[in-house]
Amino acid sequence: MRIVQISSEAVPFAKTGGLADVAGALSKALAEQGHEVTLILPLYSRFLAKNGFEIQPVGDGFEIPLGNHRVWIQLKRAQMPGSSVNVVFVDCPEFFDRGGLYQDPVTKADYADNAERFMTFCRAALEAVARLQLKPDVIHAHDWQTGLVMVLLEAQFRDWVPNLRRTAAIFTLHNMAFQGAYPAEMMPLTGLGWEYFTWTRMECWNRVNLLKTGIIFADQLSTVSPTYSREIQSPEFGHGLDGVLQDRSADLTGILNGIDPHEWSPTNDPHLPARYDFDSIGTGKATCKRTLQEQLNLPVRGEVPLLSMVSRMTWQKGFDLIGACAGRLLERDVQLVFLGNGQPEYEDLCRHLASAYPDKVRTIIGYDEALSHRIEAGSDMFLMPSKFEPCGLNQMYSMAYGTPPIVRATGGLADSVVSATQETLHAGTATGFVFHEHHPDRLWEQLDWALRLFADQLTWRGIQRAGMSRDWSWNRSAREYIALYEKALSRRAT
Ligand code: ADP
Ligand code: GLC
Repeated sequence: MRIVQISSEAVPFAKTGGLADVAGALSKALAEQGHEVTLILPLYSRFLAKNGFEIQPVGDGFEIPLGNHRVWIQLKRAQMPGSSVNVVFVDCPEFFDRGGLYQDPVTKADYADNAERFMTFCRAALEAVARLQLKPDVIHAHDWQTGLVMVLLEAQFRDWVPNLRRTAAIFTLHNMAFQGAYPAEMMPLTGLGWEYFTWTRMECWNRVNLLKTGIIFADQLSTVSPTYSREIQSPEFGHGLDGVLQDRSADLTGILNGIDPHEWSPTNDPHLPARYDFDSIGTGKATCKRTLQEQLNLPVRGEVPLLSMVSRMTWQKGFDLIGACAGRLLERDVQLVFLGNGQPEYEDLCRHLASAYPDKVRTIIGYDEALSHRIEAGSDMFLMPSKFEPCGLNQMYSMAYGTPPIVRATGGLADSVVSATQETLHAGTATGFVFHEHHPDRLWEQLDWALRLFADQLTWRGIQRAGMSRDWSWNRSAREYIALYEKALSRRAT
């Protein structure tokens, strides 16, 4: 199949969260299965320059309309490292040559022109498909930033570009909390008439809603775990679009993300001081833990349980539960490491814990790819008590690194972690610790249980090994996406 992926971020070019891991790894996995894949991204020139990527212009620059304005675009091209994926960048310095992807890194405020930026990206991405004669069987777009692609394809490009008539349109929902909803006055910027500004199309509470647009106009929809695909059809998780999703539920599939073994495997991870596998976990992980303690200036002790959290610091991730449990946890002989950035109140909470417990807690505010790998490998347990979690990647990374996660049963966390109970321990299937109700006492029960089991190293090793031996690779998920593409194509053909 000829497949075009359209995303606002992808590893290794630019990343703020799991979407980038998925867009990069899924593209590579599809290419490895023999498909011809092009990935279209905005050109965040400052991030690419920092990472030293070589990119070449393709063709002449051109203008596209944005309301009454014209925006200058130059397409550029690069090869995905270690893969046949063809990467096409939309170079538009006025919108993408900035210090952040969506927010000003200093003020942490969303850029005021995000609607203009991503509407331009969507139209330019479809222009790229037409100009480069990509003739895709499938266009697969991700999250609100690319929602407009779905309607522009349907309303304009299928008519203008004959070889897009049969192209299947797939839209993946990675997080319903972010919808790209803008005032009605923005509607003319889309290049579509006001007849599209209705409840059955692009409008939601008198705003242009780009996530809803993707949901309405895609041939098939997916989200990143089976549990989340059910959750988002309820008011608690649908963020106002649960009814719209119920209407499309026959076309909505949950496909659990995988992990990229070239980026995330303790056997070949270049960031680690020692590499290890299933057999050498004892010595390899001990070296990673010791080095992490040294680097963070924590007491170097092998026997103390080291718990960690690497996360965007937002309300989604359950920092309220961490705050409510921290006192009880830190009465015990434990160490706790936080890496992340985000909402000031959660950054302050983690900073406060580090200063109140200088022998036990370290907090690193910021984004540090290499350190995130060293924390996964050097910790004994990983915390992810999310309020909601469409899929979550860190719990999978931690299981692959022999670091049992403690998670809340929501979205992909519920679908990927097998909780340690007498039965699952006996069967050898337990990979972590799962609690249900969003309440500090429920988190504490699992923390307490995990600490008790950690003291029994033989049982603990069984949990580590069960997680490490699960197949987290993208092959399975990529095959499920192909089945979804085939379903959409067969509907288009009839
Ligand atoms: P989300 O996409 O909601 O943030 P995921 O678990 O799907 O959650 O993915 C988060 C990704 O971002 C993981 O690859 C994680 O390691 C990474 N990450 C998050 N915060 C940081 C940070 N401060 N430094 C390095 N990596 C981070
Ligand atoms: C979103 C979700 C996260 C998911 C990621 C990739 O950022 O918050 O749960 O893993 O997308 O699909």
